[in-house]
Amino acid sequence: MARIAVTDGMAPEAVAVLEKAGHEVTLGFIEKADLLSGALKEFDAIIVRSATKLASEIIDASSGLKVIGRAGVGVDNIDLESAGKSGVMVVNAPNASTQSVVELTIGHLLSSLRHIPRSDRGMRDGKWEKSEMKGTELSGKCLGLIGFGRIAQGVAAVATAMGMEIHTYDPYLPPKVANAQGAYLHKKVDTLFKTCTHISIHCNLTEETHHLVDKKRMNLMPGKQGRIECGNHIVNCARGGIIDEVALLTALENGTVTSAALDVFEVEPVTTENKLIQHPNFHGTPHIGAATKEAQSRVGLDIAAAVIEALSGKKPQTLVNSKYLD
Ligand code: MLT
Repeated sequence: MARIAVTDGMAPEAVAVLEKAGHEVTLGFIEKADLLSGALKEFDAIIVRSATKLASEIIDASSGLKVIGRAGVGVDNIDLESAGKSGVMVVNAPNASTQSVVELTIGHLLSSLRHIPRSDRGMRDGKWEKSEMKGTELSGKCLGLIGFGRIAQGVAAVATAMGMEIHTYDPYLPPKVANAQGAYLHKKVDTLFKTCTHISIHCNLTEETHHLVDKKRMNLMPGKQGRIECGNHIVNCARGGIIDEVALLTALENGTVTSAALDVFEVEPVTTENKLIQHPNFHGTPHIGAATKEAQSRVGLDIAAAVIEALSGKKPQTLVNSKYLD
């Protein structure tokens, strides 16, 4: 029997799977100070979402730990190298939330283009701004997807069905994957920005992608498709920090970017200190890409299976730090 700490919540059916496998599950958030003073020493495994950050000092203070489960995709809240060097396997659940993030991305795109959040805010203030809310169609426009993994490919399929032309920049993608989806693969990210009026981000946050969407690149966006002045639109449901938020606010203020919709931010949780959220052509959601009943159930079951496998000494398919393990 292993002791498993689940610190950021988990679907009850997934907790039941862990218990049925004979493990003892302790549910509840653990404060950073307690993690630093060894609160995880007595646990064999921990399962986190994004709220718990497992930096190297915390891993060093958790001598009993064998497995870290990330109930989700992004592992940027875990020090993979430090875990590997301490012999701790890190596993994630990369497929479970794909459809939910695809649907949120399309929702944000449509909300921006048809001014749904702005219209709603106006109506709450007693305004009937019918003539101000003229939007544009997605159909016939060029959608630029930065990264072309599972989520981007799902977005591409829906956007194609809605009549968009798909472009992508993904330096790690075999061209045949883009070809199979009918997407034009750009060798340089700048040509993607020069071509596309609509950009959606679907890559990890790394040193290479930090502030990849900056003032210079936003200035390249064409703002029109044929005779239609549709403006430039940016959506990010991947990770905060890929867009330079200061540059984005300036671009919204000077009209270079017509609308921006973000689910993820450089600093989360977002407070009213962040001026971006006050701009009329901005709307946001609080990092809810994977927050559906379906995704959370799948994420929980997938991570429970991977953690059980890792605790039994096997290497699960979703092991993400194998290069650092001895
Ligand atoms: C993920 O990486 O799985 C998503 O961003 C969802 C999350 O962090 O909760």
